[in-house]
Amino acid sequence: MNNLLELKNITKSYFLEKEEFPVLKGIDLKFNYGEFVSLVGESGGGKSTLMNIIAGLDSNYGGDVYLEGKSLRNDTEKKMDEYRRKTIGFIFQNFNLIGHMTVLENVKVALEMSDMSKKEQIDRCEMLLKKVGLSDHMHKHPNQLSGGQKQRVAIARALASDPDIIIADEPTGALDAENTDDVLKILDDIAKEGKLILTVTHSDKVASYGTRLVRMAGGKITEDKNLREKYNQKNNNNMKLHPLSFVNTFKMSYRQLTYNLKRNLLIIFGSAIGIFSVMFMLGLGNGIKGYMNQQISDQINPNVVQIIKGKNGTDMSEINKSNLSDNDINKIKDVKDVKKVEKGSMVMQPSIKYKNKSQQGQMMQTINATFLSKNVKYGSTPVNKNEVMLPSSIAKKMAKNQKDLVGKKVDLSFVTIKNNNGSIPMNRSVKISGISDGVSPAMYISYETLKSMYQEKNVTLKDNFVTATIKGNVDKVQPAQDAIKNIKNSNGKKEFSITGAGSLVSTLNNYINLAVYVLATIAGISLLVSAIMIIVVLYISVAERTKEIGILRAIGLTKGNIRGLFFSESILLGIFSSIAATGVAYILQFLINFAINGSIHYDIIQINPINIIYVVVIALLINLFAAMLPSGKAAKLDPIESLSAE
Ligand SMILES: Nc1ncnc2c1ncn2[C@@H]1O[C@H](COP(=O)(O)OP(=O)(O)OP(=O)(O)O)[C@@H](O)[C@H]1O
Ligand SMILES: [Mg+2]
Repeated sequence: MNNLLELKNITKSYFLEKEEFPVLKGIDLKFNYGEFVSLVGESGGGKSTLMNIIAGLDSNYGGDVYLEGKSLRNDTEKKMDEYRRKTIGFIFQNFNLIGHMTVLENVKVALEMSDMSKKEQIDRCEMLLKKVGLSDHMHKHPNQLSGGQKQRVAIARALASDPDIIIADEPTGALDAENTDDVLKILDDIAKEGKLILTVTHSDKVASYGTRLVRMAGGKITEDKNLREKYNQKNNNNMKLHPLSFVNTFKMSYRQLTYNLKRNLLIIFGSAIGIFSVMFMLGLGNGIKGYMNQQISDQINPNVVQIIKGKNGTDMSEINKSNLSDNDINKIKDVKDVKKVEKGSMVMQPSIKYKNKSQQGQMMQTINATFLSKNVKYGSTPVNKNEVMLPSSIAKKMAKNQKDLVGKKVDLSFVTIKNNNGSIPMNRSVKISGISDGVSPAMYISYETLKSMYQEKNVTLKDNFVTATIKGNVDKVQPAQDAIKNIKNSNGKKEFSITGAGSLVSTLNNYINLAVYVLATIAGISLLVSAIMIIVVLYISVAERTKEIGILRAIGLTKGNIRGLFFSESILLGIFSSIAATGVAYILQFLINFAINGSIHYDIIQINPINIIYVVVIALLINLFAAMLPSGKAAKLDPIESLSAE
């Protein structure tokens, strides 16, 4: 029959600047179920070193450790994690409990890597804590316990996964006589159940308590004797254990976050400011864009675009020069979704004379579909021959009561240039059909009236612009506009551009988008700041929890699990910050919109779900990125060194 554990010629040296310090010089030992072994020897003799090798924390040694006849020598890191998880239970001199977990949770960590249900886990922990006499202290934190109590928690934890071997490196070193007796009694009971107990001790009392005494000196075994009969029981461990699951990793991080609540709330607050600012900027952008578009489509029909021939529809001289032929009109008619194309013309600086008073306007244009009838303040649009519609700005200057002007006859006059052949004055007596009240300062006249005025003087009317009506939804307007702008002549040059208020819509939207992205990027800098904050905090967390990391590795968490703990901590911080930021953003949106609704009747902040998702995804990615270095550092920590961290 194989021994439970066999050590064959174990050697180990430490190197200090290439100088070799041999600690273990060939150790041969066999251990079995039901033994309670005390290892004694001078301080610095290598007892702990040997225990670390047996425990699977140190694989840098000579010789072989056999478990049930099988060497651990070639086991992978994963196998060694599993070995610690399943076969080894640890009890340390200074207890090594995890401060942010309760007594029950400290015992339960090992079981969180099992297939047990939560209820079964808690039942088992309660059973074990009862066994060590701590039923009444299960929900305390370690700092609320006495030394003896702490060590009993540690024993319960070591027993949780029902390991075959319990390694106790000076378990009573920090305890008084009474507590020492209690602990020894418990350890003996454990051996009675068929486990192998390996204790290291400096105390003669402890050494004489077990079933067997092993003495070490000068890196060798100098004495090995049985003190009494070993127990004739064999531990039967059939618990299924695996690395910590994804969900349990998050749960463990969550516990840690709530334990350090104040600090973490501050971090969440800090990150939330960054996330909130970006959300808010995007929302403000949506609002301003919406508001501007609404303002503009209030003035003009959004489905009608005004087109000139020339490259810049906002340049007055280009508009003046522009003259569209029937061929041009046909080209525009061919564009997808264009329903109707109408000719239009413009005249600069028209004058109106009424009761010997003259007023000059900026411009007069032929009435077309861009004009919305709701912008008629009094009267109607000029549909009949010899009618004009005046803008309110001019009408105001002509009569106290603008309304009185409707139906009145006035003299309309302007000057036109005939093919660079000198100027030609034009005039006609017309009737005021109505007064308009919009942003447009233009006077309006029907195409026919204007044309007949030109014919009278034998001048051909220049079709400065055309209006194209786009059918269907407003969404079709932008693509149609782009298609018109992209029409090229035989030289490959673009021929047309959009003019009037419609051209403003897309230019304005472009500017607003640009401004929003600039603002959001500036706000985004605070996201970077919060990323740096998280990196710093995680590094501090790694430093603070070095010992905990050692304990968790000893219990059997893998490197990946440790990395996962810090990643999930960062992600949880990101999630909570995002929730806080979203909440604040919506509340502020509500308040601001409510406050200014009286003046502009429009929701100026419009944060939409897409904005939220977009910002949250970016924030989480940043947090993931931030966790990379600290979590990598945590995973790389050597468990033995971590355990001896102060
Ligand atoms: N990481 C290390 N690097 C270099 N030397 C080490 C390291 N760890 C231990 N040693 C040395 O190895 C020797 C054995 O140390 P070990 O901790 O195994 O002794 P010990 O028998 O457990 O002593 P004690 O009874 O005081 O706990 C000591 O001389 C110690 O200085
Ligand atoms: Mg030691």
